[in-house]
Amino acid sequence: MRVLFVTPECAPWVKTGGLGDVSGALPPALAALGHDVRVLIPAYSAFASLPGRRSVLHLTAREGWPAARIDSVAQSSGVTLLLLDCPELFVHPGGPYADAGGADHAQNARRFGFLARVAAWLASADTPWPAWQPDVLHGHDWTCGLAPFYLYLARLRGQATAASVTTVHNLAFQGRFWMADADMLGIAPAWRGIDGVEFWGDLSMLKAGLQFSDAITTVSPTYAREIQTEALGVGLHGVLRARADRLVGILNGVDTRVWNPRTDAYLAQRYDARDMRGKAACKAALQRECGLREDPAALLFGLVGRLTEQKGIDLVVQALPWLLAQGAQLAVLGQGEPVLQEALRAAAAAHPRQVSALIGFDEARAHRTEAGADVFLMPSRYEPCGLNQMYSQLYGTPPLVHATGGLADSVVDLDAGADAATGIVIPEATPGALLQGLRRAQDAFADPPLWRAVQRNGMRQRFGWEDSARQYDALYRRLRAA
Ligand code: ADP
Ligand code: GLC
Repeated sequence: MRVLFVTPECAPWVKTGGLGDVSGALPPALAALGHDVRVLIPAYSAFASLPGRRSVLHLTAREGWPAARIDSVAQSSGVTLLLLDCPELFVHPGGPYADAGGADHAQNARRFGFLARVAAWLASADTPWPAWQPDVLHGHDWTCGLAPFYLYLARLRGQATAASVTTVHNLAFQGRFWMADADMLGIAPAWRGIDGVEFWGDLSMLKAGLQFSDAITTVSPTYAREIQTEALGVGLHGVLRARADRLVGILNGVDTRVWNPRTDAYLAQRYDARDMRGKAACKAALQRECGLREDPAALLFGLVGRLTEQKGIDLVVQALPWLLAQGAQLAVLGQGEPVLQEALRAAAAAHPRQVSALIGFDEARAHRTEAGADVFLMPSRYEPCGLNQMYSQLYGTPPLVHATGGLADSVVDLDAGADAATGIVIPEATPGALLQGLRRAQDAFADPPLWRAVQRNGMRQRFGWEDSARQYDALYRRLRAA
């Protein structure tokens, strides 16, 4: 099948979190199953010097949208990148969603409205590119939410046959804009109500995706259930419940070309389950790099991620006194909410031999933290999938996680015993539960035969993308058949 994969970020070029990893790995896995996959993504400046860029299409200004170009870049994985080149919308200082100061780009409605508009054009009869018509339009998160809506309109006019899929990576990010933007986005008044794109008086791009896609997927089976509840539905549980027969959870995978302790070039020394000496070297190297006391016996906790309430970082901050009293260590890499950044920075300044906090985004340090830590901390309040807990298992660094979303679906608690456990699972995201989890981690770490078994169980997990890609493949086929 021809699959148009529409995304706002894609590793290794543009990545703010897990969606970047998914966009870098799922398309190649789908291509390996024989699909012709093209990834449509804005031509941010990160792509400026990408070799092999070839202009394939000129889009003339139309329906109030600007003129643009589409450049194609063939990848050795078999996937083709389609770069939507429109500098006035996509070339700015900062990241894909926000400027250098962290504020959302002022033109976000227009930027991602345009991405969605172009995707739907490419999938309908009035396409500017008849030579390549996709069978499936697969969009991700709110940023692509309007694409299924535009495609639906084309279908009503008998001008499209492609099926549409929206994948929800995080229901909390909804792409809410003033309804006044509807004119600019070409959304007729008939679609501005509750059965259309309206959400609490605003226009929600994510809701558009949920309402008008043929299928909705999210990134773990547990999260697919959780988002239909009031507790984690972020106001959209009603919409999701109404479309429950179209909703499926498919667990993300790991790109083992990038995340593999046996081949990882960022590490001080490489290792595998049979020979873990390299991991000890990675721990010593991380302690040195972070200015921590270089001590193989000190229990070293690692944390990489967005420093937000979602990730339970405030709980980790509250657990610091216990951690310090135990002589344990903490190596944090992340950026996010200023209060949390400050709290971690202050702890590191006060206890430099036990706590280190690197505030920023650093791919190499992320790999070295996964490898060098003893335990990976991820007590997220909610977690659609989470990738770090899978990476850490493959790196022999058992994760401590809260039983939610993809964390519940990918980590097996110590209670399962030495034959099956891969980490520590806490029943709720509270300071008390975290403390208890930390103690259990400490006890298990102090029992070397048990700890080695837990490490080995994790390293043996098969988190590759192949299984997930097969599930997307089956979904595409069902949609096609329907
Ligand atoms: P989310 O997408 O919610 O942020 P995931 O666990 O799915 O969480 O994915 C996060 C990805 O981003 C992982 O690859 C992780 O290593 C990476 N990451 C997060 N923060 C940083 C950081 N500060 N530096 C480097 N990589 C980071
Ligand atoms: C989101 C979620 C995370 C998930 C990632 C990739 O950012 O917060 O849990 O792993 O998307 O699907």
